[in-house]
Amino acid sequence: MRKKFVLRCVLCGAEIDGFGPWFEAGQRCPECGSDRADVVYRTTPAKVRDLFRRPANGLPGMWRYFDVLPVNDRKNIVTAGEGLVPIDRWEFLEEYARRRFQIRCQVFAHRQDDNYATGTFKDLSGSIVSSVLKENGIQNFVASSTGNTAVAYARYLTAAGISFYAFIPKNASLTQAAEIGCFGQNVFRVKGDYTLTKEIAMAFARKHKMPLAGGNFDPMRIEAKKTMMLEWIRLLGKFPTVYIQALSGGTGPMAIAKGCRDLAPVGLGGRMPRFILSQSSRCAPMAAAWAEAKKKKYPEGWEKTYPIYHNPRTGIATLAAGFPKTYPVLAPLVRESGGEILSFDEDATPLIARLVAFERSVRIGPAAAIGLGGFFEALKRGLLRNGDRVLINIGEGIRRAPEFLITMFQEKAEVATVDACRLFDRRGHRADIWNELEKRVMNGKTAPASRRGR
Ligand SMILES: Cc1ncc(COP(=O)(O)O)c(C=O)c1O
Ligand SMILES: [Zn+2]
Repeated sequence: MRKKFVLRCVLCGAEIDGFGPWFEAGQRCPECGSDRADVVYRTTPAKVRDLFRRPANGLPGMWRYFDVLPVNDRKNIVTAGEGLVPIDRWEFLEEYARRRFQIRCQVFAHRQDDNYATGTFKDLSGSIVSSVLKENGIQNFVASSTGNTAVAYARYLTAAGISFYAFIPKNASLTQAAEIGCFGQNVFRVKGDYTLTKEIAMAFARKHKMPLAGGNFDPMRIEAKKTMMLEWIRLLGKFPTVYIQALSGGTGPMAIAKGCRDLAPVGLGGRMPRFILSQSSRCAPMAAAWAEAKKKKYPEGWEKTYPIYHNPRTGIATLAAGFPKTYPVLAPLVRESGGEILSFDEDATPLIARLVAFERSVRIGPAAAIGLGGFFEALKRGLLRNGDRVLINIGEGIRRAPEFLITMFQEKAEVATVDACRLFDRRGHRADIWNELEKRVMNGKTAPASRRGR
């Protein structure tokens, strides 16, 4: 069968004949050893345009984009229907931008919070990675994870019949370990921090010659997240002008940029949105580097200067990337897009999540709350404009973070008699939430009177 794609090394331009030689070289370019490669598809513009037309090819979820996904044979697809999630219009945010800042924009939430396997956008990578491994006859896979990625991989690898060795730090929750182990996969809880966990996983993979889950440049992960952008075209018909996401290593924005490059010759896609990327205030090395570079007006080599935080004290494990290895690639991309890297107060995440739960009856996890916090931060800093179409990636739901759910819960009334049970006014609660947002996040006094008791 003629292969439908090749990998092209980003550094030396070498053409790599699919994932076979890529895995053989330890997930690197066999010529120069770089860990960055783009998947290049042998398809035609007409065929790509067809992907967005109905009826689809009959494959579930994001696999409707099979022609531009890195699997050759349909029989290798491992899927749980992930990726077919809605993009909702969140008018309550549009209304807020209009009333408070006189900005007229549209706001969309890409609802990755309810994906099948883990309730996060990690399902996309879980499905692609497992399918690629299956197609290449790989029987064992190793990953280090703060817990979340491993949960997604465990589920999909099990479906692919692949053995999985997950390394998680001992302080990751026992539930996380159980989520992996319940599939009959292997979990090692490492007595130490995440840095040690990664080291041991790497040494284990080397010792047993097994592939290790790649980093943020992993072409399998990039191709998976690229499908988010394909969904924008299908569901919105138009590109957003602003893309907001919580930021850890930046695979999301890099994948979107890759998708834009792919689609430009096809006449779809269009301009890359302005990337507004939000880090937790307790682990914001990229935001700190960015602020410094901006202050100095981006001097020569600015993108190579960044701090490294060892064992950052954030409670959001999925965003605890203290060593921002991808910054030299990501930051110029953000600059090219006209965007911004900023940080959002981690302590305000339960408030953001309560706001969304109240206004939309959607429950988001802490990393998604950092992302959404980026919207408010962007408004505050004057980064949004009239006419913007803002898309916020709600990358996770609450399912992954039950302990965060508890921080969202405020009324803890205990009663022993009927008379002790007070009535409540939900509208008053709305004013309370918005007022608290005003005070804690927007640093104003209280919400404008016009919004009270809506
Ligand atoms: C919900 C959520 N948002 C954002 C991110 C960050 O993704 P990226 O790798 O694009 O920085 C993650 C995971 O790392 C996540 O789980
Ligand atoms: Zn190379």
